[in-house]
Amino acid sequence: MYAGAKAFFYALSRSAALKRLASRYGMRSRESFARRFIAGETIDETVEASRSIQAQGLQLTLDYLGESVRTVEEADAATREYVRLLDVIVKAGIERNISLKLTQLGAGIDRATCVDNLRRILEPAGRHGFFVRIDMEDSAWTQMTLDIFETLWQQDYRNIGVALQAALYRTEQDVRRMNELGARVRLVKGAYKEPKDVAYQRKSDVDAAFIRLMQLLLDSGVYPAIATHDPPMIEATRSHAGRNGIGKDRFEFQMLYGIRRDLQGTLVADGYRVRLYIPFGREWFPYFMRRLGERPANLGFVVRGILGEQ
Ligand code: FDA
Repeated sequence: MYAGAKAFFYALSRSAALKRLASRYGMRSRESFARRFIAGETIDETVEASRSIQAQGLQLTLDYLGESVRTVEEADAATREYVRLLDVIVKAGIERNISLKLTQLGAGIDRATCVDNLRRILEPAGRHGFFVRIDMEDSAWTQMTLDIFETLWQQDYRNIGVALQAALYRTEQDVRRMNELGARVRLVKGAYKEPKDVAYQRKSDVDAAFIRLMQLLLDSGVYPAIATHDPPMIEATRSHAGRNGIGKDRFEFQMLYGIRRDLQGTLVADGYRVRLYIPFGREWFPYFMRRLGERPANLGFVVRGILGEQ
């Protein structure tokens, strides 16, 4: 079921007809179904949502949605939008933290285009004290993402970190490498449907790997982000940190906008740092479908939302 649901929603996420249909209804009004996971289609709406999130004691990272771009022009447009986002964030006075995907900046066109575009973002980001997290995409991109990350790290861009996925067999080795570099890791379970020669297929195996990697990161990583909504993973993190005298200021939890708000509040009340990943923009369909793949029960509110809007 765990891998099956992901595969099913992954297949649907490639349907142009479904994308058109969803785009028509998903964000139309304040009650539309995609708004549960997407803060807004514009930067201005998102800044407004960010302010109220910060007022609840949460930290944030903003993600301008987009991935798998196919032309140099699209990659350039996404890069310009990110540079504009930095400017808007500085002017709005909200937290300076963004997340991005390399296939949005042209990794699928050629590596040099992607590195150039990333540098165009990292330069102003560095000047204004931003932290920039590189999301991890499906396993076809893992090696290139880490190569690009290391290239920039060696060029002294130190305001960057990367996400690593517990589901992949290779990740322990990647965590050790990032710890050696002193780079910040966001640990996630992994949102993509992966073949069994590269990734665990059973939830119990992914969870066991997540706990092992969380411990490695807490013991010798640099301010890791433990990104999950799964209560047993959160409990394992709290107890490992507690047992080993690792202070609440030496790591943070991260969650996705719209998921498990109850848990976010409890952790903040207990003195933990919690950062919300806040996606926005018009290209929300693939991101949205991954959220359905993680929890097929979410389909219920989509259907109710569509019926309610007609
Ligand atoms: P799991 O899927 O086992 O869910 C545990 C519980 O959380 C569920 O029982 C439910 O209560 C709740 N829950 C989880 N997903 C839900 C949903 N969609 N809707 C409603 N409730 C839900 N992945 C990736 O491959 N690359 C990346 O760069 C990132 N980046 C990222 C950033 C941040 C801040 C987070 C929190 C997650 C990611 N992810 C990601 C996604 C990640 O890989 C994973 O798919 C999701 O976090 C779901 O896994 P959980 O750890 O929450 O556990």
